[in-house]
Amino acid sequence: MKKIIVTGGAGFIGSHTAVELINAGYEPIIIDDFSNSDERVLKGLQKLLGRTPVVYRTDCTDKDAVLEIFKTEKPDAVIHFAAYKAVNESVENPLKYYRNNLLSLVVILEVMQLVGMTKLVFSSSCTVYGQPDENPVMETSPLKAAASPYGYTKQISEQIIWDQHKAFPKLTSAMLRYFNPVGAHPSGHIGELPFGVPNNLMPYITQTAIGIRHQLVVFGDDYNTLDGTCIRDFIHVVDLAKAHVSAILWLDKNEGECDVFNIGQGRGDSVMDAIKTFVRVTGEQLNYVVGARRPGDVEQVWADTTKAEKLLNWKAELTLEDAVKDAWLWEQNLQKKG
Ligand code: UFG
Repeated sequence: MKKIIVTGGAGFIGSHTAVELINAGYEPIIIDDFSNSDERVLKGLQKLLGRTPVVYRTDCTDKDAVLEIFKTEKPDAVIHFAAYKAVNESVENPLKYYRNNLLSLVVILEVMQLVGMTKLVFSSSCTVYGQPDENPVMETSPLKAAASPYGYTKQISEQIIWDQHKAFPKLTSAMLRYFNPVGAHPSGHIGELPFGVPNNLMPYITQTAIGIRHQLVVFGDDYNTLDGTCIRDFIHVVDLAKAHVSAILWLDKNEGECDVFNIGQGRGDSVMDAIKTFVRVTGEQLNYVVGARRPGDVEQVWADTTKAEKLLNWKAELTLEDAVKDAWLWEQNLQKKG
């Protein structure tokens, strides 16, 4: 069974990807320092899979420790998720983001070169497009100024991979530009576990509906969109996880190539659409109010996913309705478990 290192494998996208890797016959080896995830993820994986994947509690910026893991496990490929992702925090503490997100990637690339391992799937983000001139965005759309240090870490990371590819042409990498991951595993065993007050829309919605938060604030309804709220491409986390399995297969067939892929549902829904969908699908009330715009938000962005469909043979299958239903089941289960 081929081993795949999954850095950040205890996180939201990482844990769902570990499940899809197992479903596809791979053995995920998780490296996570648990700085932004907790043990409940492992309990959920245990329930879902009947076992817990191998987990190393290691910081990916620790080169000696990462090298040791690669030497021990002899992985076939690595999926590098481990990174900080809170946009606001990155504005307040940019060095924390540049240090962790860039150094961990550099360490992974150095270790790959040292052990002669060439296959990398990298977690990039639609944030690299900034506010695009046109939607849907294609991979060839220009990269604009990023809205935050977090966004710059993703732009710079892609550049680091391209530069390393030039110097070390065997490096084979699929850089996946995620749009807005939402939802949870339909089993209700794993999902998003935000620390403290959520930054992102979907966990804020579910926490408000269940009574943890008093009220959701819609950040602005005066944008130049149909209903005035921002538009995003919400992608179910299980679809997103499956894209990583497709990317691993692409690496196998495209030795020595690097490429970027949009991973979204391929449609735009507004913040109000997400709220209305939640109310309709769950039958719950949602206490919300329209407030001021949030600094740094782009008005609208959604993906053209033609390239991923053609080259990765991957397409999103689940809808915003599915994501809302699964996120709500997960939130309810979380509260039952405490
Ligand atoms: N929103 C609200 N109220 C909230 C939270 C969000 O109205 O309480 C709105 C935002 O203003 C935005 C939309 O919901 O218009 C989506 O916001 P999210 O915070 O859920 O996600 P972003 O589109 O801001 O995406 C950001 C980065 C991505 C990153 C993602 C996950 O741009 O690169 O967060 O961390 F991947």
